Amino acid sequence: MSEDEKIRIAVLASGSGTNLEAIARAAESGEIPVEIVLVISDNPDAYALVRAKNHGIPTTCFLLTDFENRGAFDRAIAEALSAAGVELVVLAGYMKLVGGEILSRFKNRIMNIHPALLPSFPGTHAVRDALEYGVKVSGVTVHFVDEGLDTGPIILQEAVPVYEDDDEESLHQRIHEVEYRLYPLAIKLFAQGRLRIEGRKVRIVQDANNMR
Ligand code: GRF
Repeated sequence: MSEDEKIRIAVLASGSGTNLEAIARAAESGEIPVEIVLVISDNPDAYALVRAKNHGIPTTCFLLTDFENRGAFDRAIAEALSAAGVELVVLAGYMKLVGGEILSRFKNRIMNIHPALLPSFPGTHAVRDALEYGVKVSGVTVHFVDEGLDTGPIILQEAVPVYEDDDEESLHQRIHEVEYRLYPLAIKLFAQGRLRIEGRKVRIVQDANNMR
């Protein structure tokens, strides 16, 4: 994979950043044709920032309290993404709804990963909600981001079994293992120009050159 075929991505993360870690490793090994040019967090204590630094990736932290309002906060993030020449925005455990200027500037170029099979169990406690509901199967969803909460067109999904003795941690760990494979794959498909959004559906095309 030559350097100039790589697309420039940014990862937005608020927490531990294990998905960031998986994506960074996939990028470094050449498994996915991307360069992570920026990691942004809204939480100065996010371990994701440490991971980014360990991989030599530039980081920026934006605190909502430093801004007059949410619109100004989103505008600042959108500016940083544009200034870094970002082509795809990857949300990986980013705990804020992405809206306003970010959404309008990067329409159809923002992805999120969710630890359940959407449209079941949207929101921040998906793993706990699925367990409490008593489902036998949960899973992972990678989707494009729209103005709703976990409502955008679905790119990839994979089921994960729920076992009787699972607690939130054990189920989330099993879900994580799938996430670390599925998110790099979805990013790779995007980078290869193989994702077509058609209304609510995302079609994965075989040969991008024939479809352009
Ligand atoms: C993941 O389970 C992801 O699906 C959800 O938040 C979690 C982030 O984990 N959106 P990490 O910060 O990547 O470890």
